[in-house]
Amino acid sequence: MKSNFLLSLLLLTQEYFAQISPILPAPVTYKEMDGSLYFTESLDIDFSGLPVNLKDQMIELATVYHDIKLSIDLNKPRVRFKKLVNVIKDSYSINISDEVIISYSSEASGYYAFNSFMQLIEKDSVGFALKKCFVKDYPKFSWRGLHLDVSRHFFTVDEVKRYIDLMSFYKFNTFHWHLTDDQGWRIEIKSFPKLTQIGAWRDSTLNNHYSTKPRTFNKERYGGYYTQEQIKEVVSYANSKYITIVPEIEMPGHSRAALAAYPEYSCNSIQQGVEGFWGVFDDIFCSKDETIVFLQKVLDEVLVLFPGEYIHIGGDEAPKTRWKKCEKCQNLMKENNLKDEHQLQSYFIQRMDKYLTEKGRKLIGWDEILEGGLSTNAAVMSWRGFEGGVEAANLGHLVVMSPGSHCYFDHYQGKGKDEPLAIGGYTSLEKVYDFNPVPSQLNKQQEPYILGGQANVWTEYIADFKKVEYMVYPRAIALSQALWCLEKPSFKDFQKVLIDRHIRFLQKNNVNFSKSFISPEIEWKNSKKGIKFKVLPIDLTSKIQVNLNEENLDGKSQQKEIQLIENQWLEINRAKKGNSIRNLSIKTGENSIPSNFSIHASASLGVPIKFITKPSPSYNSGDLTLVDGQRGALPWRGNEWIGFDTTEIELEIDLSKKDNYKYINLSFLKDDHAWIHFPQDIEISIVEKGKRKIIESKPVISFSSGGQVQQVKIELKKSTRFMHIRIKSLLEIPNGLPGSGHVPWTFIDEIEVVR
Ligand code: ACM
Ligand code: ZN
Repeated sequence: MKSNFLLSLLLLTQEYFAQISPILPAPVTYKEMDGSLYFTESLDIDFSGLPVNLKDQMIELATVYHDIKLSIDLNKPRVRFKKLVNVIKDSYSINISDEVIISYSSEASGYYAFNSFMQLIEKDSVGFALKKCFVKDYPKFSWRGLHLDVSRHFFTVDEVKRYIDLMSFYKFNTFHWHLTDDQGWRIEIKSFPKLTQIGAWRDSTLNNHYSTKPRTFNKERYGGYYTQEQIKEVVSYANSKYITIVPEIEMPGHSRAALAAYPEYSCNSIQQGVEGFWGVFDDIFCSKDETIVFLQKVLDEVLVLFPGEYIHIGGDEAPKTRWKKCEKCQNLMKENNLKDEHQLQSYFIQRMDKYLTEKGRKLIGWDEILEGGLSTNAAVMSWRGFEGGVEAANLGHLVVMSPGSHCYFDHYQGKGKDEPLAIGGYTSLEKVYDFNPVPSQLNKQQEPYILGGQANVWTEYIADFKKVEYMVYPRAIALSQALWCLEKPSFKDFQKVLIDRHIRFLQKNNVNFSKSFISPEIEWKNSKKGIKFKVLPIDLTSKIQVNLNEENLDGKSQQKEIQLIENQWLEINRAKKGNSIRNLSIKTGENSIPSNFSIHASASLGVPIKFITKPSPSYNSGDLTLVDGQRGALPWRGNEWIGFDTTEIELEIDLSKKDNYKYINLSFLKDDHAWIHFPQDIEISIVEKGKRKIIESKPVISFSSGGQVQQVKIELKKSTRFMHIRIKSLLEIPNGLPGSGHVPWTFIDEIEVVR
C-alpha cells in the first residue's frame, strides 16, 4: 500500500513555532509547523545510498520504538535521506513537511537522526502521527560516557549488550568497561591464564551495607569472566551502535584479584584470595620492572581486542603502605631521584603512558594520576570533584568530567524509605540534570580540553542487571541532556517530556527504570502547633492522597485518608503527652510511587532552634531538620543530618511554653570511614531569665567501628520553656582510624523533647 500516508487537512501555513522538543536529548533546533502526517503500521522509505549497518539499525529501531515496519519504496518514498558535507561533526537535520527528509553527515549522525525521528512519532488509536517540524542537531561534547563495573558484580554478555542498546537510544558514544578490580578479574588474557582461572572467582561476598554490623558474608563462590571471543563480539556490537569501548585495567591499586593469581607482582609476594569485602586495600602492584613488564604484556592483548584510542589504567586509590616498606620500590625511588611514593606512582604511570603512546594509543586515568606529576600524554578522568579536571586542563591535558557530586549513579536517587540499598550519597535526577562538565574556573581557551562527561556505575550494591537499570535510568537520560544539548531546556520541561513521551518507551522495552523522580515534592514548614506540609505533584492534574496512621502512647492507632488540594497545608500537631508516631503515605496520581514518612510527634516538633554554633554549610539542610519529627537513618544521606566540624556545639531550643518535660532524646550518627564520630559529652541546661542551670551532663559511649545510629535519652523532669544543649566531640580522631589527627564530624538528627 502506497497510500497509507494521509496528508493533514490542516496544512494551511508554513509558519514555524518554537516548541518543547519531544526528542531527548533535546536537539539544537526544534520548530513545529501546523499539521501532521499520518500513517498506519508501515512506513515507506528509500534506503538507497545508506551504509548497510545503518539501514539494518534503522529497521531494528522502528520495531524497538513503535513496532513499525519499514517498507522499501523507491518510487514514492515518504522518507528519504540526504548526505550533508562540510558541517559540524555528527550534524543531522530532519525536515517533516509533506514528506520526511533526513539529512546526515557521518554514519553515526544518521543513527542519531533516526533515533530522533522515531521519538517524533506518536501513536494514537488509528495509527501513527508525525507533527510537521524541522530539527537541526549536533552534540556539544565528544565524550558522552557511561561506565559499568563488572568486577564487584559480573554481568553477562547479553546484559552488557543491553546496557549498550539503552545507551545508544540516548546518543551516548563511550562505554567505559571497568574490567578489573580487587573483587574479580573479568577479561581473558591468554599469556596469563591464572588471571581468570583464579582471579575471576571469589569465595565470599559481603551481605549487607559495609556499615551494617555485625558483618556477614555469603560463602558461595562467585565470579565470571569474558573470553576474548566474547569481548570481540561486544566491541563489534558496540561499534555497530556507534559506541566506542574504553577498557579499564586497574593499576597499581585495586589489584587484589590479579595478585591472588600472581602474588609475585606485589611487593611482598604474600598469597591472598580474591577480595569479598568492599573498599581500598593496601596490597597493590609493586612498581618493580617485572610487574611493569607483566602489565605491558597484559595491555598488548587488551590493545588487540579494543581498537579505540583510549585505554584506562585506573590509577585511583592506591595506598603507598607496601611501597614504603619494599626494598625494590625504595631502590627505584633512589635510582630515579623520586622524592616520595606519589612520584613513584607518577613514574609507574609514565612508563605505561610511554608504552601506550608508542602503540598509537592514549592513556586515561582517574585524577590521582595528577599526584606526583602528570605524565606527558595522559588524559584525566576527574571523579573527586571538578578540581582535578581543572588542574589537568590548566596543564593542557584532555579531561573527562565525572564528579561524584553529579555523576555517581551508585548513589541514592530518591529520599523514600523504600529506595533499594545504595552505597550512600544522594544524586537526584535534577542534580544530574544540573551537571555542566565545564566549570566556571576555565576560560575560553581552556574549555576545549574538556572532552565531555561520564557517569560511573559501581556495583558493590548492585548485584543484578535489573538493579543496574534501576540505578541508571532515568538518570542517564538527564546526563544525556547535559552532554549533548548546546542549551539545556529547563528541568521542568525535561521532566514533562520524560513523563509524557519517554516513560512509555522505557516501559515498552521493559526497562526497570526508577520512578523515584515521580514522587511528589513535599514542602515542610514549622507551624504554631507543630509542623505542616504541602504537596506539589509532578503532574498538576493528579489528586493528592494522604494516608495518615497515628500510633498513640496507649498503643491505639487510628487510620485516616485525606484528599488534599494543591497548595493546601496539612498540619501535624505536637503530642500533648509522650512521643507518638504519625505514619504518612503521600501519593499523587496513578504513576506516582508513595512517599512514606514516620513522624515522631514530640513536644519539640517544629519548635524554633537557635544554632549558637553554626553547622557546616555542606551538611545543613535547614533548622527544621532537627525537629521535623523524622530521625536520620542508615545508610545515611547528607540531607537527613545536620553536620558540625567543630569540637564543641551549642544550641538553644524554645519549647514555646513553660511546661513539665520528662526527657530529651538526641540521635547521633557514627561512620568512621567518613570521619563521623559520636560525641564525648552532652550537657543539658534549662534557661530561666537568661541564666543557665545545668541539669545533666552525660558521656556518650562509643562502640566499635562502622556505621551506627545512637539514641541518647536524658531524663529531665523539669519545668522550663528554654533549653540549652552543649555537645563536645573528641578533640581529634584517634590513631588507626581514617582521618586520625583531624577534628571528627558530629552528625545530629533528631532532637525530641517529651512531655
Ligand atoms: C573511583 O570512584 N574510585 C574512581
Ligand atoms: Zn614494591
